Amino acid sequence: MKVLIVGGGGREHAIAWKIKQSPRVSKLYCAPGNGGTAQIATNVAIKATDLAALTAFAVKEGVDLVFVAPDDPLAMGLVDELERVGIRAFGPGKAASLIESSKVFAKDLMRRYQIPTADYVVFDDLIKAMQYIEKVQLPAVIKADGLALGKGVIIARTRDEARQAVQKMMEEAAFGAAGKRIVVEEFLTGPELTVLAFTDGKTVRPMISSRDHKRAFDGDQGPNTGGMGAVVPGTVCTDAEWDVMTKTIFQPTIDAMRAEGRLFRGVIYYGLMLTPKGPYVIEYNARFGDPEAQAVLPLLETDLMTIIDAVLDGKLDRIDIQWQDACSCCVVMASGGYPAAYKTGYPVFGLDTLPADCLVFHAGTRIEGDQFVTGGGRVLGVVSLGKTLPDAIRQAYHGVAGIDFKHAHYRRDIGGAAW
Ligand code: AMP
Ligand code: GLY
Repeated sequence: MKVLIVGGGGREHAIAWKIKQSPRVSKLYCAPGNGGTAQIATNVAIKATDLAALTAFAVKEGVDLVFVAPDDPLAMGLVDELERVGIRAFGPGKAASLIESSKVFAKDLMRRYQIPTADYVVFDDLIKAMQYIEKVQLPAVIKADGLALGKGVIIARTRDEARQAVQKMMEEAAFGAAGKRIVVEEFLTGPELTVLAFTDGKTVRPMISSRDHKRAFDGDQGPNTGGMGAVVPGTVCTDAEWDVMTKTIFQPTIDAMRAEGRLFRGVIYYGLMLTPKGPYVIEYNARFGDPEAQAVLPLLETDLMTIIDAVLDGKLDRIDIQWQDACSCCVVMASGGYPAAYKTGYPVFGLDTLPADCLVFHAGTRIEGDQFVTGGGRVLGVVSLGKTLPDAIRQAYHGVAGIDFKHAHYRRDIGGAAW
């Protein structure tokens, strides 16, 4: 089979690495890919958002399956485009991707189907939003409706911060059209965890839980990023809590989407918080998270192609999905300055002398001459598996210690490690 993976980050390298292990795959493409995917697949210089060029490429090369990994092409309807020309595509169509691309849609869905989530009010009128902000309970959480690279959420602790957040989103359009409508929601507290799940629109099969580290600096300080590291398992939860999540969140969400005529097929991302009132949904994504995918996929024992087929054929209830009984840690090495301005083009040293118990997924590298150079904000994800989480963390940091590039920045406390 010929497979095309759309995207070019660490998540896509991890997906390519896993799919490459399938005996059924004869040719693997990545568009646009990165320096890491170039080692195991053929990179194709097409942007993930160029729907027409991706579709034309898939037709021309006789691609059997396209795995659409990032949020933008999903929200734009790449899966629908591919299906229209008869190509199998993994990921939700445009209608179902709305669960990520519109926070208002997601919140209203949860309200309609009694899925536990923070109380909220939606505004598309600046004056009304500003009036509401004057009396809202603090802290308040202010979210842009649309996709904003994970940066469209502001937790306002003072009234002034709340006023500024609303103004920034609605008046100055800091997030473009994404902030025309906003959600103001109740501030919740509790440990967070991510649960990714495969679903064919009827059956939902959660993966092992994981936890992202969104802030740039140690101790959860600094600006939000795409994610600076991830561990598996995420926050440890009891069987009873897991049971509650299955009954009140995982299955009801999939059933709600089907009932709305938005059958969701692919990977759904449940961003959860274990609040004193029970597990609540913080957000949904319509795809694998990054870096969560880098920590989770190495633990998957089942052939990913078998799961993809079951999802696309609506037969997810018929297969067995096996996971390695181990823990995992992914430490992201980023360019100094990320998520604000940073420089690229620095040579990356040490990749050829990695410890045997580490894997490296490339997020933002390219090949220049005979070496890898940095090419993005997040540069590498260093992953290690271990019997215990402390083992996985220690080994991953051992791997990180052997890699070097100018102005490299990484957190020293992924998974709670104190360095
Ligand atoms: P999101 O992009 O919706 O996942 O939000 C980014 C981060 O903001 C989350 O991971 C949480 O840490 C925080 N957050 C979002 N919504 C809330 C909320 N209602 N209460 C407390 N923290 C929140
Ligand atoms: N790690 C969070 C995300 O992929 O959105």
